[in-house]
Amino acid sequence: MTIDIVRAAAPTGAEIKGVDLSQPLNADDFAALEGAFNEHGVIFFRRQSLAPDQLLAFSDRFGALEFNTFGETHGLPGHPGVVVISNVEEDGREIGVKRAGEQWHSDMCYTAKPPRGTILCAREVPAVVDGKSLGDTCFAATHAAYDDLTDAMKARLDGLVAVFDFAGRKRAQTITRKQREAFPAVTHPIVRTHPFTGRKCLYVMRDDCTGIVGMDQDEALSLIAELADHIVRPNHVYRHRWRAGDVLLWDNCTVQHKAIQDYALPQRRLMHRTTFAAATPPA
Ligand code: SIN
Repeated sequence: MTIDIVRAAAPTGAEIKGVDLSQPLNADDFAALEGAFNEHGVIFFRRQSLAPDQLLAFSDRFGALEFNTFGETHGLPGHPGVVVISNVEEDGREIGVKRAGEQWHSDMCYTAKPPRGTILCAREVPAVVDGKSLGDTCFAATHAAYDDLTDAMKARLDGLVAVFDFAGRKRAQTITRKQREAFPAVTHPIVRTHPFTGRKCLYVMRDDCTGIVGMDQDEALSLIAELADHIVRPNHVYRHRWRAGDVLLWDNCTVQHKAIQDYALPQRRLMHRTTFAAATPPA
């Protein structure tokens, strides 16, 4: 297999050409994909046709399936590990999570061991209107954001730990008591070291982060807001314009993402998502 990697004009994002994900990948080919994933943070493949079982098998090569809380309510029938994200309603019922990811975030940052990555398979995407794609997803490179900080800010952040609370983020779905109890507040370093590349990445988001350990609350919220805005500055962002058949993976340490909610029925958007666990890098 000849794999071609085409970088986006942004500090994250690369298209991988020459791969048919429905076919078995040998160890060398998979290593090339995994290397590209670690390096670029977001990789995508156009014109794929992955059945749910194939999606799960592909996802499993990057890390064990991480069962997302939305799998309980919006899992694909027969494949609860695949979360459906969609604005479509059938028989008056939402078939997937609506307006998922409408604020900048990193998946499941509210857990003690956040997942390594996430895959979205685009089944249906809104049509392009007047040359403008709808329902794009934006990805902000957290390593580039760290690198761009002043030395004084890097020194200030050294050793700081933020508090992450599931209930902090305003969500499209009402948070249940069960979810609140399942996800007590956790802490993570504001500067995370990527387990494979060793790059330093900023890990802080507005709302998800509800404080900084040992810091006055006003000062903490102001620093969180400053960093959150810095991370998503346009020069750190890759914007993905979806086509049906795209398979896209992102690294939850290297990027944060946000789904643009600029479409509505009858424009349909239907995605299948898996999330895979943190992996231990090779020694
Ligand atoms: C998500 O945050 O997982 C949803 C992303 C998207 O639908 O583009």
